[in-house]
Amino acid sequence: MKNLKNPFRLKGYHGPGLFCDREAETALLIENATNEINTTLLSIRRMGKTGLIHHCFNRLEKKKNWECIYVDIYATQNLAEFTNQMASAILTKFPQNKSIGKKFIDLIKGFSPVISYDALTGNPEISFNYSQEKQYEHSLKGLFNFLEQQNQQVIIAIDEFQQIANYPEKNTEALLRTIIQSLKNVVFIFSGSHKHLLIEMFNSAKRPFFSSTSPLHLGNIPSKKYTTFIKKIFKNRKKGIDDDSINFILEWTRVHTYYTQALCNKIFTQSDAEITIETVRIACDTILKEQENVFFQYRNLLTTPQWNLLKAIAKEDKVYQPTANAFTSKYKLGNSASVKRSLEALVSKEMVYKEDASEVNYYQVYDCFLSRWLER
Ligand SMILES: Nc1ncnc2c1ncn2[C@@H]1O[C@H](COP(=O)(O)OP(=O)(O)OP(=O)(O)O)[C@@H](O)[C@H]1O
Ligand SMILES: [Mg+2]
Repeated sequence: MKNLKNPFRLKGYHGPGLFCDREAETALLIENATNEINTTLLSIRRMGKTGLIHHCFNRLEKKKNWECIYVDIYATQNLAEFTNQMASAILTKFPQNKSIGKKFIDLIKGFSPVISYDALTGNPEISFNYSQEKQYEHSLKGLFNFLEQQNQQVIIAIDEFQQIANYPEKNTEALLRTIIQSLKNVVFIFSGSHKHLLIEMFNSAKRPFFSSTSPLHLGNIPSKKYTTFIKKIFKNRKKGIDDDSINFILEWTRVHTYYTQALCNKIFTQSDAEITIETVRIACDTILKEQENVFFQYRNLLTTPQWNLLKAIAKEDKVYQPTANAFTSKYKLGNSASVKRSLEALVSKEMVYKEDASEVNYYQVYDCFLSRWLER
């Protein structure tokens, strides 16, 4: 059993067999794409947006005539890097030995690119080195028009889309909006996790993306579906697990996809044929021990009041009224003004997450494992 690859993967997409549920979300993304509707995919970090995009692409690529392009713009700082990233993604999708790839190379030759290859992945990387911003705008339009003219339905997922709000070129939203509107054969998924930023970007009447996309909020996978999935995956690898153990896993990881996968991954490594609550507890301890160094680093990065507040939030699990006396005096956090200040700092550092869906409003430690560690 020991040499079997761990089926609870923590990176990348590994096909529908190792992917849990997301049926409704996948169907909606595909329906939108077929109806030429652009989608904004939103969730907190590590909930499964990127996985969902690849799952959706996996389905679409089985249909005739769909070409799926994935671009992660997390590391881009400006319109120039965005353009380079876009061009690289297109060339990765259509290698030079394919007829579309050849046509693409012919097109970008006109933009004087520098083409290099990533040492690790072997993927092509394109960079245009222009002195003027307008030239990038021109190339970007050229790239999208190229896709538009192929005899294909093209879907482009731009992951970590909120990044464009940090570009020094304040017209990026407007520029993209203009380009995107003119395309008929190219449909988009904009995905990201800075909820407020993205919602503002897409919902404010003053902003160019206003009413141009359909939102999809990705929540937790339903516990029942995750239970069936976990049981099936273990069973297929000849490991038995009872419902109590699975309930424990889902509760401890808040059914937050990455954390649930990570705990199951550890349990898979550490277990024999029968998994019990005891096996699960040991796996939880191992994970917290492994991450302890990182957690201590966090402490060095925060002020003492921030750290104390973080600990208090972890102990409560969810805090609905963080400045109320009942909470601040229970944990000796000082006056409400200073708690408010620390809280704002923790939220902006993404150490604490604020859930503010319609009627519920609470704060929680963002990293589930850190929360469990602080709680102890
Ligand atoms: N439906 C699923 N079934 C099984 N594993 C999944 C599923 N969705 C996501 N995962 C796994 O959960 C982890 C987090 O998913 P993913 O990276 O897609 O989240 P994300 O929302 O894009 O996160 P971030 O905001 O940090 O980019 C990954 O290890 C991924 O493989
Ligand atoms: Mg992601």
